[in-house]
Amino acid sequence: MRSLLLNLLVCIFRFKVSHSEKNTFVNVTVQWYFYHELETIEQETVASFDNVKKIIPDEEPVSVTIHGSIPILYEKSIFEVPNLVSLDLFNVSLEEIKPGAFENLPLLEKLILSGNKLTEIKTDTFVDLNVTYIDLSSNSIILLQPRAFKNFNASYLLLDNNKLTEFPSGVFDNVTLGNLSLTNNRLHTIAPKALSTVRFRILNLPGNKLEEINPEVFDLQDLTTLNLDSNSVKLLRPGDLRNLPELDELSLVENQLKEIPEGVFNNTKLNDLNLDANKIAKIASGAFDDMKDLVSLRIDFNNLTQWDNNWLGGESRDRFISIHFNQITEIPDDAFKNIPSAFAIHLQGNKIRKISPKAFHQLEDVIDFDLANNEIDRWDLDFLGNTSLDILNLRGNKLECVEGDLQTVFRNVGIIKLMDNPWNEECTKKIEEFLENKNAFLG
Ligand SMILES: *[C@@H]1O[C@H](CO)[C@@H](O)[C@H](O)[C@H]1NC(C)=O
Ligand SMILES: *[C@@H]1O[C@H](CO)[C@@H](O)[C@H](O)[C@H]1NC(C)=O
Ligand SMILES: *[C@@H]1O[C@H](CO)[C@@H](O)[C@H](O)[C@H]1NC(C)=O
Ligand SMILES: *[C@@H]1O[C@H](CO)[C@@H](O)[C@H](O)[C@H]1NC(C)=O
Ligand SMILES: *[C@@H]1O[C@H](CO)[C@@H](O)[C@H](O)[C@H]1NC(C)=O
Ligand SMILES: *[C@@H]1O[C@H](CO)[C@@H](O)[C@H](O)[C@H]1NC(C)=O
Ligand SMILES: *[C@@H]1O[C@H](CO)[C@@H](O)[C@H](O)[C@H]1NC(C)=O
Ligand SMILES: *[C@@H]1O[C@H](CO)[C@@H](O)[C@H](O)[C@H]1NC(C)=O
Ligand SMILES: *[C@@H]1O[C@H](CO)[C@@H](O)[C@H](O)[C@H]1NC(C)=O
Repeated sequence: MRSLLLNLLVCIFRFKVSHSEKNTFVNVTVQWYFYHELETIEQETVASFDNVKKIIPDEEPVSVTIHGSIPILYEKSIFEVPNLVSLDLFNVSLEEIKPGAFENLPLLEKLILSGNKLTEIKTDTFVDLNVTYIDLSSNSIILLQPRAFKNFNASYLLLDNNKLTEFPSGVFDNVTLGNLSLTNNRLHTIAPKALSTVRFRILNLPGNKLEEINPEVFDLQDLTTLNLDSNSVKLLRPGDLRNLPELDELSLVENQLKEIPEGVFNNTKLNDLNLDANKIAKIASGAFDDMKDLVSLRIDFNNLTQWDNNWLGGESRDRFISIHFNQITEIPDDAFKNIPSAFAIHLQGNKIRKISPKAFHQLEDVIDFDLANNEIDRWDLDFLGNTSLDILNLRGNKLECVEGDLQTVFRNVGIIKLMDNPWNEECTKKIEEFLENKNAFLG
């Protein structure tokens, strides 16, 4: 009899303890508004409850924000809330999410869990969710367990500013994503095929430690945009992009590239390629051949010393080509033969002193041609021939004079910028006269 009583007491005690332990929400303030009356925010501070459903009325689509401290989200704490559209748990000191915390949330579109203290995402945490947006950024996540995301569909999954060093395989099971963002983690490895089962379009990986584009990892049939800025990619090999058939935008700003060999980009659908701020000193003549869809090519802030007139072979029209702030010293003969009609050619901030007399042959028209801040000390009468330039920028060069009649020399130039050159006295007069009926700037 005594032991039965004791047992009963223990049971009650256990029940009480486990009951209160399971109350996810203790001393928190819950704010909500209904979508049909955005201006009215209601608010309640509650002592203790286990499911968010118990606080908010359930008649209309509702957006909920919770303030306070929620160290653990227990199972079923966000459970069967048929009208929950958006839940914001930003900065609530969240350390752990138990599997099954989120269930039966048919209208949920937006789930914000950023600015917390999560260190891992456990198996079966995000299951059967069909949402627009899940934000897990700015936590301390070091581990993603197998099947952390299962039967899951989201336009955006944000894991920015966490502490992931590797991305293991099996994290995603039957997942569809639009944009996966992993900016500012510490990723040096992504397991082969870890991402391949997810049919997503945008992969954002700036600020990690990846050293290569391994085609076994980057085997992403629907990917259109890959951002690898501020990683440690050292080399690109032919075939690296072979498993990215839809890729149209690749950004590799601030990596460790020294050289671009032939055959990396050919036959890709790349439309926008950004190689700024590497250490590129050498680019093979055929490196950009057969890039039929290329519109924008940026190689700014690198170490190129030569312009190669064989670059960009194959069809091309109306491109934006920018190679500013490199060390190019000379514009050779027929320099632009492969880009006869360009939207922009930006070569400012190089060390160009010499322009070959035939440099502009085969160049028909450019909207914006920028040669500012070079060392050009000579501009021949017939450099431009019939080339038509909407804007020509020659600011900050070493020109003392331009021989001949300026109206003729610059006859096919719309706007010309001539400031910050050491014009001699005689030439200054000539330029002033020219200015009177020309849209030019002497400064
Ligand atoms: C909740 O708040 C009340 C009043 O501020 C306080 O007495 C109580 O200790 C708090 N409980 C917890 C678990 O923090
Ligand atoms: C997070 O919440 C704490 C209080 O719990 C507050 O002091 C801090 O300013 C908040 N941080 C942000 C970024 O809102
Ligand atoms: C997921 O949500 C989208 C948009 O709300 C909808 O078109 C789609 O049918 C939903 N899918 C499932 C499986 O509920
Ligand atoms: C895959 O996930 C979707 C929801 O995103 C679900 O409708 C579908 O039933 C799941 N398929 C399997 C095989 O589990
Ligand atoms: C995923 O969501 C998108 C957009 O909301 C929708 O078009 C698509 O049908 C959904 N896919 C699945 C498998 O539910
Ligand atoms: C993908 O999401 C990240 C993080 O929000 C954002 O910075 C990036 O612009 C998005 N990309 C696109 C194309 O929407
Ligand atoms: C360009 O790509 C094709 C495959 O599509 C390949 O056969 C060819 O060798 C590549 N060219 C170079 C120069 O690597
Ligand atoms: C690359 O260019 C930078 C900036 O112009 C320069 O400081 C650096 O010495 C160059 N490095 C090499 C290897 O040429
Ligand atoms: C420029 O065009 C004129 C008239 O079309 C032509 O006679 C001349 O040869 C052209 N000059 C050059 C350098 O192509």
